[in-house]
Amino acid sequence: MTTCVGTSTGWFPVARAAEVGSRPLPVGAGGRAYVLVRLRPDGEVSAFPATCPHRLVPLSAGTVVDGRLTCPYHGWQYDGEGRCVTIPALGPDGTPPPRADLTVPWAVEERHGWVWLAPERTAVPTPPRPGDATVAEPVPAPPQPAGPVLGNLHPPWRRRGTRWRCPASCGPVAGCRSGCSGAPGRCAAPTASRSTRRRTASASGSDAPTDPGVATGERPVRLRRRVTAVHRAPFQLLLRREHLDSGAVTTVHFLLQPEDADSTRVYTRLLLSAGPGRPLPAPRDVGREVALAQRVLDEDLALTAHLAGQGLPPAGRDELHLRADRLGVALRRALCDFTGTARGARAAA
Ligand code: FES
Repeated sequence: MTTCVGTSTGWFPVARAAEVGSRPLPVGAGGRAYVLVRLRPDGEVSAFPATCPHRLVPLSAGTVVDGRLTCPYHGWQYDGEGRCVTIPALGPDGTPPPRADLTVPWAVEERHGWVWLAPERTAVPTPPRPGDATVAEPVPAPPQPAGPVLGNLHPPWRRRGTRWRCPASCGPVAGCRSGCSGAPGRCAAPTASRSTRRRTASASGSDAPTDPGVATGERPVRLRRRVTAVHRAPFQLLLRREHLDSGAVTTVHFLLQPEDADSTRVYTRLLLSAGPGRPLPAPRDVGREVALAQRVLDEDLALTAHLAGQGLPPAGRDELHLRADRLGVALRRALCDFTGTARGARAAA
């Protein structure tokens, strides 16, 4: 076998071929995490990095749709080469930027009942056959770590909620990802002078061929929409979606009530208007909107439970932000500002 412990060169047997189907299978090779999946029934195996570059959601929770790996969070789709081919928020005419592509491993091969993965170009072009003598590859020495090294089983460290805590005196390890020094309990991220922010997305369009007003020619097929988000960090978020052609407005109001370090109760209020002069939405329409809001919230909660980090503040170097994300990014910045302000107030007390 030509695997090399501690490096990412060489071929790594990562899964039995029979284990890989249309559900992404998490595997590891050379210290990196990947998912394996067949994008077509009985098709060849494709390998992708384990997380979506958008918000770092594990792609092991993704699905295969039309022969593409689809991220469960915002629906970005990747072809077998890792190219991002669809970003739903950009609309049907939007072109995904090249930065949205996944960096796939150098090669993945199915041989002798196993899936072999080579994270980087390797001197041996194919996986070894069973019984082959071990082929040693030149291996560069691993780089020396720059600072102190702590194993994750270091006994004095305790985990509480999503943070590690040293019982001596260092306080929580904040893990600030904004580029500040990240000293325990301190965050140098810029703080906000206000805790309420309003962002309005410019009007965008969506097709509504089933709208009765479209059939009568009263409204165009492509309806204009405007979305406004009002954040009152950290406990309130209001989203207002206006359909500019029909005058219909949907408002969703989230209220968060922290209960302890690990749980927060979420209250949601939904306000519906069919537009000026129009009758109130029928109970059936209200029920459909409530079910939709609940489903979106459930999906988001289930996915955020998979996330390794807290997601605050936005990880500028790791996550890929698009123009279509500006409301979400603004919300996370507001939350970061709030937590930074709260930390500052605690330190000053
Ligand atoms: S599409 Fe993957 S996290 Fe947004």
